[in-house]
Amino acid sequence: MSVRRLAEDTVQPAAFAFSKENAAWAEATINKYPKGREQSAVIPLLMRAQEQDGWVTRAAIESIADMLGMPYIRALEVATFYTQFQLKPVGSRAHVQVCGTTPCMLRGAEDLIKVCKTKIAAEPFTLNGSGTLSWEEVECQGACVNAPMVMIFKDAFEDLTPERLEEIIDGFDAGKGAEIQPGPQIDRIYSAPIGGLTTLQPPEAPEKAKAPARAKKAKDDKARDEPAVSVPPSNAAKPKTAADVTNPAVKTPATAKKAAAKNAKIEGETVDKSKPAKKPR
Ligand code: FES
Repeated sequence: MSVRRLAEDTVQPAAFAFSKENAAWAEATINKYPKGREQSAVIPLLMRAQEQDGWVTRAAIESIADMLGMPYIRALEVATFYTQFQLKPVGSRAHVQVCGTTPCMLRGAEDLIKVCKTKIAAEPFTLNGSGTLSWEEVECQGACVNAPMVMIFKDAFEDLTPERLEEIIDGFDAGKGAEIQPGPQIDRIYSAPIGGLTTLQPPEAPEKAKAPARAKKAKDDKARDEPAVSVPPSNAAKPKTAADVTNPAVKTPATAKKAAAKNAKIEGETVDKSKPAKKPR
């Protein structure tokens, strides 16, 4: 991380004051915090000062510290730590923040930096000839899926080519930045895949209907190709035994009642009880 210092005294204004509208907003913002915790509003107030003047001056930092009842050094720590705060004057129409972290670098951030060097200034944080543009290289801005990208003010411009970035810079330099659509600069919705959605699609009904038809055809083809073979039941699991119960010649009551009666050893077991018993002589 580079050393971040306040701008030279020669460019520092003598005083700072919020505009009437911003002063009312600042008061409302401070009131959102509990009594004794007003210092928590330091980041939003510094950001508002930057949006008002284009950068964060020493006078603004000290003025905001006074508003929040905090030592100047505490407000200075915040302003110099977070790179979203510009400590020197930047382009009046655009300060281009080029992401140079790995995904963006792999997708061509170096070429975007070359464009900035050619069209704006050879060194970062240097104003162009008319004072309207400046640039810097920043860390990941959280839009890696759509790399490479740049931030200008609060907007991200993604999926950039060097040619598209040149057009965007020219648009801001001409004062037409508000007309340029932020976000992906190619045909994609937000961070959805290029060429359209590939997930979370409704099920394709015709495909579903085709699947059983294909399975049936495969089954029919298989049945046609295979010869019809008669396979007798296997006797492999049948026990080999000479016991009467397994002798097929021995008839059972269920299959042949007369033969079964003949087999019976105890007379009376096979007596037909539906007929009257013989009277004893
Ligand atoms: S690496 Fe560039 S936005 Fe994350």
